[in-house]
Amino acid sequence: MITDKKKKEKSVFSSFLLLKSKILLTFACNSQKEDILNTHKLMKNLDWGNLSFGYMKTDYNVRCYYRDGKWGEIEVCSDEYLNLHMAATCLHYGQEAFEGLKAYRCKDGKVRIFRVDENAARLQSTCRGIMMPEVSTELFTEMVKKVVRLNQEWIPTYESGATLYIRPLLIGTSAQVGVHPAKEYCFLIFVTPVGPYFKGGFAANPYVIIRDYDRSAPLGTGKYKVGGNYAASLFANNLAHEKGYACEFYLDAKEKKYMDECGAANFFGIKNNTYVTPKSTSILPSITNKSLMQVAEDLGMKVERRPIPEEELETFEEAGACGTAAVISPISYIDDLDTGKRYSFGDKPGPMSKKLFDTLRGIQYGEIEDKHGWTTVVIE
Ligand SMILES: Cc1ncc(COP(=O)(O)O)c(C=O)c1O
Repeated sequence: MITDKKKKEKSVFSSFLLLKSKILLTFACNSQKEDILNTHKLMKNLDWGNLSFGYMKTDYNVRCYYRDGKWGEIEVCSDEYLNLHMAATCLHYGQEAFEGLKAYRCKDGKVRIFRVDENAARLQSTCRGIMMPEVSTELFTEMVKKVVRLNQEWIPTYESGATLYIRPLLIGTSAQVGVHPAKEYCFLIFVTPVGPYFKGGFAANPYVIIRDYDRSAPLGTGKYKVGGNYAASLFANNLAHEKGYACEFYLDAKEKKYMDECGAANFFGIKNNTYVTPKSTSILPSITNKSLMQVAEDLGMKVERRPIPEEELETFEEAGACGTAAVISPISYIDDLDTGKRYSFGDKPGPMSKKLFDTLRGIQYGEIEDKHGWTTVVIE
């Protein structure tokens, strides 16, 4: 039998070992030994082809704290939890922002990330919008690279079509009861492997315009990636699912006339060799959409970014939702429940959507020339 004393000694010893390995790891990371992490390691034994878009614990997250008016050193952490003050501003006043990007294990064996500087810039814009200190592009990029390398055993295989989802999160942590910005912040990044968006191949889905709910106001926070926008979308999103649609569509909140966004993705329509996408102050500037506009131009299409009245839907040959999750999710039809109108774009993805999808995906996976310098190799 193990006595209490022995148990205690054993637990002190294992805590010591854990602490020692953490110190060694921090040392390895902080002393330019990144090369160790930049070489391929064995992969976890997971059913990579059957991952969902859910959370799975990985080995490490990286954190950085803002105190006394400046960001500190990057810390490597294996704890999934945060020790948070109950009066932290992120909990009460929504001082919270996040980002989303992916690491792709490519056919050539390298691991790439896509337009990381754009995610950093969007987070900086969000920070200015809700009074949080900006995270520099350098710090953001360094932390993304570090967390991907540290968790490289969790990056899904190329063949599975799955990816490593990267979730940067910035929260106000210091106590505040009056409505004011926090003085202290935590910026952390975790990763989790996620399955491919299209399990049964690139397919079209039905969407629905829901007029009874707004995700954000024209001069509100819709253009920032803050949690409040997503809380505001939960009800309408659930309604759309209950009615059998893939996702809800928002019209502009002021006039209820123009197409805004569909759930957590931007919208585009295609007609006469032209890629048309909404210009609106209440939608999130999607990095995928920005890239698709460039790819469309590269493919010889015209690009228009302007308000799109709902009736114009009738004139589109193809339509799609775009974002990091799917790149493009083609739309089969959009129903307007209030008017009973259905706008149809075909049951199968259109040829232009397919071309745009294949091209952007090809660039992300290093299979098509990256002439705009969008990808960064994180692991050679
Ligand atoms: C509201 C919203 N719109 C659009 C997008 C697509 O943006 P991105 O292409 O940068 O993933 C997202 C996803 O991040 C989103 O949450």
